Amino acid sequence: MDKLIITGGEKLSGELRISGAKNSALPILAATLLSKIPVSIGNIPHLHDITTTMELLGRMGVQLVVDEKMNVEVDASTIKNFEAPYELVRTMRASILVLGPLVAHYGTAHVSFPGGCAIGTRPVDLHLDGLIKMGAEIKIEGGYIHAKADRLKGARLVLEKITVTGTENLMMAATLAEGTTIIENAAKEPEVSDLAYFLNKMGAKISGIGTDILEIEGVDQLGTENLHFDILPDRIETGTYLVAAAMTGGQITVKNTRPNTLDAVLEKLKEAGAEITTGEDWIKLDMKDKKPHSVSVRTAPYPAFPTDMQAQFTAMNSIADGVSVITETVFENRFMHVQEMQRMGADITLESNNAICRGVNNLTAAPVMATDLRASASLVLAGLVAKGDTLVDRIYHIDRGYDHIEEKLAQLGATIRRVPN
Ligand code: EPU
Repeated sequence: MDKLIITGGEKLSGELRISGAKNSALPILAATLLSKIPVSIGNIPHLHDITTTMELLGRMGVQLVVDEKMNVEVDASTIKNFEAPYELVRTMRASILVLGPLVAHYGTAHVSFPGGCAIGTRPVDLHLDGLIKMGAEIKIEGGYIHAKADRLKGARLVLEKITVTGTENLMMAATLAEGTTIIENAAKEPEVSDLAYFLNKMGAKISGIGTDILEIEGVDQLGTENLHFDILPDRIETGTYLVAAAMTGGQITVKNTRPNTLDAVLEKLKEAGAEITTGEDWIKLDMKDKKPHSVSVRTAPYPAFPTDMQAQFTAMNSIADGVSVITETVFENRFMHVQEMQRMGADITLESNNAICRGVNNLTAAPVMATDLRASASLVLAGLVAKGDTLVDRIYHIDRGYDHIEEKLAQLGATIRRVPN
């Protein structure tokens, strides 16, 4: 397993290009199963989760051709089987996203039940309830979800809880259902909207995009000749590098991003003392050599502060001036990074879903590891400001969601290297 070694103390500066959003690329790749006409998708990030998704589609018989610019040409007309096997689903829960498209288009799906997860229990009951309301027959057997339907029927779905992939699965399923589906209390994340725009380009009829009520008028088939779609830039990758720069007192400009998908994060960075300037597709952050002030954050579904930025802000608060409270409301167990940061000298106390963080002057390097993607990234950020060489182990989590993290940080002046095992 590769490791990263970070020598703390460098101030980050310079420019950086943001990759396409992982959490948009994954559902959009799954959505290609809804059509028999080839599509081309651009701005695909270079990530392990993308490779896993391509492998998943490939094993079903879908043809994928990737060029050197990470444009992916997908032809799902060659599909031969409708299974997402355990060995792939267990490494990537987002595999559940093939369930809706398969049952809607082919009337059958066999998807391994995603098991436990490092950040909480993460059930998929809302995905299944919605499909059942649309007429699917669902059986759980041998660790698999077996779904069957002649043709799904439009339904009114009121989601009990806001769920990102749940909204995406049901929206995809509804595009080919007979009649109209209304999804209420839908997730409003920009990645959900990106998927909806993609589906509409394939011929779907979705309205209410970006609101919490989606209306989907089912159509008989999907697919458009010569369709090319570019994935939305990754707001969490953007936020992660901005926090990294803020922690080091630096000044960076991130390009190829969408500032309007990061309002809550940028507000918190300003509160921490950063000067933020934005253009249509860039963000400049300048800390003017200063240390950040502590900022309290409370995670919640979009447009509130994202749970996927919580660990990074915990890292920043650990060395900021003052005391902050970080409240996690989306996942019940997403503080795995705290114990590791404590080993680096952070003063953080956990009280149920709150982390009370008293900023310290310095962190000190230590060997650390984490069991989820954003937690691992936050340890890299901690390493950037720690005294000495921090060794971050199990970085396959980082490779699932950050495109060439060590190259991008090195480009900004960080001393970081990957050590193969
Ligand atoms: N939930 C249920 N039942 C369900 C579905 C969800 O109770 O059927 C609960 C979850 O347990 C959780 C809450 O609803 O407490 C929200 O979970 P959600 O379903 O929104 O999460 P997700 O769709 O599994 C996506 C992202 C995550 C991100 C969350 C929240 C993808 C592929 N994953 O997960 O991204 O944290 O939304 O914004 O889009 C990451 O990129 O590191 C990551 C974990």
